Amino acid sequence: MTGTVERKLRVVSISSGKGGVGKTVLTLNLAHIYQSLGHRVLVIDGNLGNGNVDSLFRSLSEYSLVDVARGVVPIGKVLKRTPSGIFFLPAGSALGTTTSLTTEEKLTLFSELDSLEDVADLVLVDCPSGIHDVTLFFVRSSTDLVCVTTPEITSVISTLSFLTLLSSRGEKEAGIIVNMTEDDGDGTNTFEVISEQVGKEGGMKVHYIGHFPYDYTVIESIRFLQPLVEKEGKGHLRGYLLNIAQEILRNPPEEKIKKCQQFFTRRLLREEHDTIFKANEVGQ
Ligand SMILES: Nc1ncnc2c1ncn2[C@@H]1O[C@H](COP(=O)(O)OP(=O)(O)O)[C@@H](O)[C@H]1O
Ligand SMILES: [Mg+2]
Repeated sequence: MTGTVERKLRVVSISSGKGGVGKTVLTLNLAHIYQSLGHRVLVIDGNLGNGNVDSLFRSLSEYSLVDVARGVVPIGKVLKRTPSGIFFLPAGSALGTTTSLTTEEKLTLFSELDSLEDVADLVLVDCPSGIHDVTLFFVRSSTDLVCVTTPEITSVISTLSFLTLLSSRGEKEAGIIVNMTEDDGDGTNTFEVISEQVGKEGGMKVHYIGHFPYDYTVIESIRFLQPLVEKEGKGHLRGYLLNIAQEILRNPPEEKIKKCQQFFTRRLLREEHDTIFKANEVGQ
């Protein structure tokens, strides 16, 4: 490889118990941050039939992941790239509600996504809110699960039910981001409530990724379709995003290849093989 840094693949699902907590805002702004750190980034809009990632990236799409899942077009026809170089897969918005996928459609989407295994090293999936079969599909297929909440009690309760369900489906670990906080304490206190409750139930491990303040700049950035990193320059919001971005990558997933159903399995297996191979070489 010449001139590019080789990075191990991470597929991060950004999920939440309820809608409107800031998943899309955080996904898109994290994409910009990761890209500024030298990652090759792919954003998957998981809100199939009800997405908004393409409009927030100032792009209109003729075809979407729904068409890919239905076998209408290959994924190459849907893959887009922003002027700054972030790849993304639009979800389409014609249906007005997040559609479910049949098993056949999941398999089609799964193998089509596999053909993009070398497009990016950092994949962010903006999942549908709450418990949806499409969310389960994406979460199960990711290396990392991140759950966004706000400090509000309604959001915390939804987060707890969401994590309980995911735990019952075999998920072992989730990182928590607290969005729309008033101060640092708001983030850690909210996390502690979640962590204590999840701990009582057992079965799942949660770790604190960080918090992001409630700030009017976020609302303006959406209104003017401008990423926070551009809008804010090197202001304080960029610092929060950077911290979250680094924290997500700090904790390597416990079991990177965790189930038989996972995106980019061939690449993950190849990387695992290379790591073992290198370790053996060092040991010789
Ligand atoms: N940190 C924040 N500060 C202020 N407003 C926010 C913040 N995060 C999100 N918002 C507002 O909440 C709205 C919903 O966010 P969004 O990312 O679309 O939620 P979700 O994808 O979880 O449904 C945004 O349009 C924005 O107006
Ligand atoms: Mg959203």
